[in-house]
Amino acid sequence: MIEFNKECLMDILKNQDYHFYMVIPLIFIGLYALYIKKFKYYNPIEKQEWDDRRSNVKRGNPPPSYPNGWFRVCHKNELQIGQSKFFKLNGRHITVFRGEDGIPYALHAYCSHMGANLGIGGKVKWNSCIECPFHGWSFDGKSGKCVNSEHLDEKQCTHHTYHDIKKMTKGSDNRYIKTCESGSPSQIQKFHVRQQNNLIYVWFHAKNVDPYYEPFEINEIPYLEDRGETADYVNCQIQEIPENGADFKHFEYVHYAWIEILFPWIKFKWVPKDRKPTDKDFDEVMRTHPNKKVQAFSNKLFDKYTNEQNKTHINNLVLDAYLVFFDKFEFYIQTATVFQLGSGTVFLFLKFPLWEAVVVQSVTPVGKFNQLVHHKMYTSWWLPYWVSAYLLAGFRKQFISDKIVWNNKIFADKLTYNPKAVFDERLLNWREWYSQYYEGCDEFEKNQEAFDW
Ligand SMILES: *[C@@H]1O[C@H](CO)[C@@H](O)[C@H](O)[C@H]1NC(C)=O
Repeated sequence: MIEFNKECLMDILKNQDYHFYMVIPLIFIGLYALYIKKFKYYNPIEKQEWDDRRSNVKRGNPPPSYPNGWFRVCHKNELQIGQSKFFKLNGRHITVFRGEDGIPYALHAYCSHMGANLGIGGKVKWNSCIECPFHGWSFDGKSGKCVNSEHLDEKQCTHHTYHDIKKMTKGSDNRYIKTCESGSPSQIQKFHVRQQNNLIYVWFHAKNVDPYYEPFEINEIPYLEDRGETADYVNCQIQEIPENGADFKHFEYVHYAWIEILFPWIKFKWVPKDRKPTDKDFDEVMRTHPNKKVQAFSNKLFDKYTNEQNKTHINNLVLDAYLVFFDKFEFYIQTATVFQLGSGTVFLFLKFPLWEAVVVQSVTPVGKFNQLVHHKMYTSWWLPYWVSAYLLAGFRKQFISDKIVWNNKIFADKLTYNPKAVFDERLLNWREWYSQYYEGCDEFEKNQEAFDW
């Protein structure tokens, strides 16, 4: 504790010169300190209750539950050097650990020897390896191979098929245990991992195809600061959540702001546009914003985050927000440039007149009809903390309005679409785009049934 010297302060206050020069900056420093300490918005997931019975109950006629793509696993601070953790997500059981080299690795959760869980009590060693807590077998996070020493020489094992009684008849030696593949190296599945924007992502593909798009690196946007995160469980199929962005019509019914309730003569108006970078009329629709500064901001993002090879993995939206008074006078507030990236992430870049913000939405299936959804906020560092906390809380409030619908709906595969209504057409178009992430997932899910525990 710093002793507060009253007399000294009184001296300063009495002296008119000091009064002016000293007290005002002190007030600002005090306020700023308050922002730093108090106003980051988090809602810890541990405190949330959800009805587990709902998370495996089939809802309508949905696509597969576990699409291919990058999925958020945890915040980088939740995985310190030498730490290992167990995660059940997107239909897999994995262990994620941070090697002594500081790099995060992900492997199939179970040891190839006796099936012990590496993520629970596994010990990190030899830079990039994890040691099984049961009998000390070690696996290299870089390859998934079982290794013998710090030189990472491969362990040669005799494979046994244990107790697969159903498939076996007794051998000639009167035993049920069968020996096979003598001399081959022992290995478990390795997953690709990225640490980007303070988050750790793991790549899943039903056919184990290597990553074909990348989570965005937004640290290159200058002056952004990490300003908190929200977490919520939602009981629905994963697609329903990103699909919401392309479903323009629901804005009118589900989303409203407190200001509209307090002052019925004020309305929020959203003007949405959406195109995929592969669409022929992309430039015509998405690069013709009346405000030049806003357009330059969006253009920079379009150019940076998409190229010929990876543009099929993006769907872009541009949302202009206006305040409308008496249904007549419109005032422009801000524009959101949105990148739906692959199956599990959405990046919203917000340009306000005096500052910028990015909201990253990550959706991770933890059960078939149970999604863990995070919204992470980054803003320009000079934005007061209470403003960013207020914005993120407001963002979550809008999300909760959607969640009530999602939690209680079924996945309608044969909606009574009206193909002449432009909004329904966009929705169909969006569903077609997203379907690229289901390659091989049906088969995967059928084989994986036993893993849903
Ligand atoms: C496409 O590649 C560029 C690098 O060339 C990268 O910055 C961008 O994030 C990538 N986008 C996708 C969708 O993977």
